[in-house]
Amino acid sequence: MKYLVTGAAGFIGFHVSQRLLSAGHQVIGIDNLNDYYDVNLKISRLELIKTHPEFLFVECDLADRQGMAQLFAEQGFERVIHLAAQAGVRYSIDNPHAYADANLIGHLNVLEGCRHHNIGHLLYASSSSVYGLNQKMPFSTEDSVDHPVSLYAATKKANELMSHTYSHLYGIPTTGLRFFTVYGPWGRPDMALFKFTRAILAGESIDVYNHGQMRRDFTYIDDIVESIIRLQDIVPQKDPEWTVETGSPATSSAPYRVYNIGNSQPVTLMAYIEALENALGMKAEKNMLPMQPGDVLETSADTRALYEIIDFKPQTGVEEGVKRFVEWYRAFYKV
Ligand SMILES: NC(=O)c1ccc[n+]([C@@H]2O[C@H](COP(=O)([O-])OP(=O)(O)OC[C@H]3O[C@@H](n4cnc5c(N)ncnc54)[C@H](O)[C@@H]3O)[C@@H](O)[C@H]2O)c1
Repeated sequence: MKYLVTGAAGFIGFHVSQRLLSAGHQVIGIDNLNDYYDVNLKISRLELIKTHPEFLFVECDLADRQGMAQLFAEQGFERVIHLAAQAGVRYSIDNPHAYADANLIGHLNVLEGCRHHNIGHLLYASSSSVYGLNQKMPFSTEDSVDHPVSLYAATKKANELMSHTYSHLYGIPTTGLRFFTVYGPWGRPDMALFKFTRAILAGESIDVYNHGQMRRDFTYIDDIVESIIRLQDIVPQKDPEWTVETGSPATSSAPYRVYNIGNSQPVTLMAYIEALENALGMKAEKNMLPMQPGDVLETSADTRALYEIIDFKPQTGVEEGVKRFVEWYRAFYKV
């Protein structure tokens, strides 16, 4: 099958592209290679997948309306896995417009491409951050998500709403993927694991927010990829019986679904750091700091709906996952 993968030079997009290619699919990967984090890492990921004969890279900005329309018109995709976005909660405090461009205009351009070119299934990245002020744990796709606490989260929730309207109006099957803190080899330099590893190896202290009193449902990249690969074959169908009053908010009368993809085993930030210290065989010097604006205290995924539909549960523990990250980091950066 012919796939469009947006954000193919990004952490998750790179892994998903590799997996699709190894399953014999054709992948057109797009990315604007922006410098939100080290561009060399994005280029290195691309170099690895570019060697595959069924992979084509197109440098393109999601917000480029004409460029995106042309891409869809020329390529004739069958499915779209939309992972490009301006990610990061903290960056959205100082750079709100980057989120409007990539996540709102960009998402609209992807939806328009799907609308005009008969795409069989659009899967797109949402985020656990849509749960915002929710306190009931674990977070369930049955819960309301109307109180985000960062602009990033608001754009991800907006992506779900925009997708619903396109599923409803034009019958495009859409699946929203609420990822919970993804980590692993080739991971993102702006995320804690990467920053901590770099600092510890350089003999520098690490910044631990909210004095370590946070819990996260850390999810290993291979579990994310496996879930996406299984979900892309489960194309949402219309459900005429569904009503707002009686139906689940994660489904609809339209061919629209939303799933949590998380490990369902939240660990404390301190336990995550300890797993890293064990993997590195080094102790971290910790700089205890207060909570950051836009952050949440805890995330925890209820993945029963995911398990029921794909018969798979993310399950890699942090000891194992962090160890694999460190192995990759040491080999890649030769430290
Ligand atoms: N990694 C996580 O923990 C996590 C958690 C929840 C949700 N997500 C979501 O998953 C998706 C993938 O995240 P990731 O961790 O791989 O992030 P990433 O930043 O590594 O990948 C995103 C890629 O999209 C590209 N991009 C950004 N804006 C673009 C634009 N306007 N046009 C074209 N390309 C653009 C970037 O250059 C980057 O390579 C994102 O939508 C993110 O919001 C990630």
